[in-house]
Amino acid sequence: MGPIPLCVLLPVVVLAVAVVVATEENTVDDEYTWPQWKVPLVRKRRTVPLSSPDFSAHPQPELSGTCGIECQRRLPTPSLDDLEQFLSYETIYENGTRTYTSVSVQGLNEVTAWSRNASSSSRHKREVYGPDTRFTISDKQYSTKYPFSTSVKISTGCSGVLVSPKHVLTAAHCIHDGKDYLNGAQKLRVGILKDKSRRGKGGKGRGGRGKGKRRKGEKGQEEVQEKEENGGKGDRKGKGKGRKSRNRRSVESEKPSFRWTRVKQTQIPKGWFKGVTDGLAADFDYAVLELKKAPKVKHMDLGVIPSVKKLPAGRIHFSGFDDDRPGNLVYRFCSVSEESSDLLYQYCDAKPGSSGSGVYIRLKEPGKKKWKRKIIGVFSGHQWVDVNGDGMQQDYNVAVRITPLKYAQICYWVHGDSSECQQA
Ligand SMILES: *[C@@H]1O[C@H](CO)[C@@H](O)[C@H](O)[C@H]1NC(C)=O
Ligand SMILES: *[C@@H]1O[C@H](CO)[C@@H](O)[C@H](O)[C@H]1NC(C)=O
Repeated sequence: MGPIPLCVLLPVVVLAVAVVVATEENTVDDEYTWPQWKVPLVRKRRTVPLSSPDFSAHPQPELSGTCGIECQRRLPTPSLDDLEQFLSYETIYENGTRTYTSVSVQGLNEVTAWSRNASSSSRHKREVYGPDTRFTISDKQYSTKYPFSTSVKISTGCSGVLVSPKHVLTAAHCIHDGKDYLNGAQKLRVGILKDKSRRGKGGKGRGGRGKGKRRKGEKGQEEVQEKEENGGKGDRKGKGKGRKSRNRRSVESEKPSFRWTRVKQTQIPKGWFKGVTDGLAADFDYAVLELKKAPKVKHMDLGVIPSVKKLPAGRIHFSGFDDDRPGNLVYRFCSVSEESSDLLYQYCDAKPGSSGSGVYIRLKEPGKKKWKRKIIGVFSGHQWVDVNGDGMQQDYNVAVRITPLKYAQICYWVHGDSSECQQA
């Protein structure tokens, strides 16, 4: 056969270009859809008993010296052996005993798209945190409804989020300081906001006993949704008004109270422990608690997203129990300022106490019109970060992001079976 004439070839090229353009248009639409990832397999190798810990550590108000995104960029990429070490974990049981479990990781090449390349943007100073933009969700009508109802309080003073009917995701530093377990981790409990009559007086009243009638309030639910999702853009004036009047009302309503549930066991990745990760410990500031009893509250699924900044709004949300508003659930949202594959830096207003909150975003389920919220990270807290590895520290609010690997690990902890965790 001779050469193919140009006049035949040309339309094919044009067609190909057209197809590419069409595909690109589709991907624009896909930006609003949860991507589907094949995740690596994290499998248990073996479990050995360890001596019981001392439970001598005390909570740290602030973490410092974290090797930040730029600092981390200079570290060598962890090898498979390293990763298997970091993802191996300790389990601490209710009775104070603990075990160590080593893991193997398979299918790591599924996630080559995850590089340690991070986009960088202009730096902010702390003052740029600006006015406090947190919302107190004190009205039971909202705080005991999804998505706020997934937020829980950890007895060591942190927050957490329900990721299964009886598992809570929180920050590792709420349980362990890197060297030992916190004093309060021995009798760890999780508090779920009580949904009781708004008229009940105080915490100890009879309101606690009888299940309060939940108000129907369809309208209220929508309001929350609107507040949650659109609070930032447009209509500031109207929103501000609504917020103020709600706050005023909340003063009159009863103090929030919790229903406490004991924790059966807690799992922490070895990567969090001192001397294991060499600059990457902040990436492993997460832990999973298993409750003795399922609290019958809807949980939020985990999700994996390659870049938050590239999302249409680039905005994250989280709710927790900030120290300065005791007992109240505090909700906020903000845009991510900087991200690496493992960390998210942002200037969401947050006080200690909100550490461990689940950071979520809302996207569409593939093939569906409905929006779905998923947890993509764990709020770690305010940190002084070593930006360039030269000892110069800068402050950020940091969240640990759920990578495909971490998804695999957390999913395995929750399900106890890695075959159920092959796709995020
Ligand atoms: C503590 O609890 C774990 C898990 O339930 C159990 O395997 C272990 O035997 C218990 N140890 C003691 C000393 O009771
Ligand atoms: C990461 O950055 C390097 C150098 O800037 C580049 O060569 C590489 O292609 C990047 N990787 C990805 C996955 O973007």
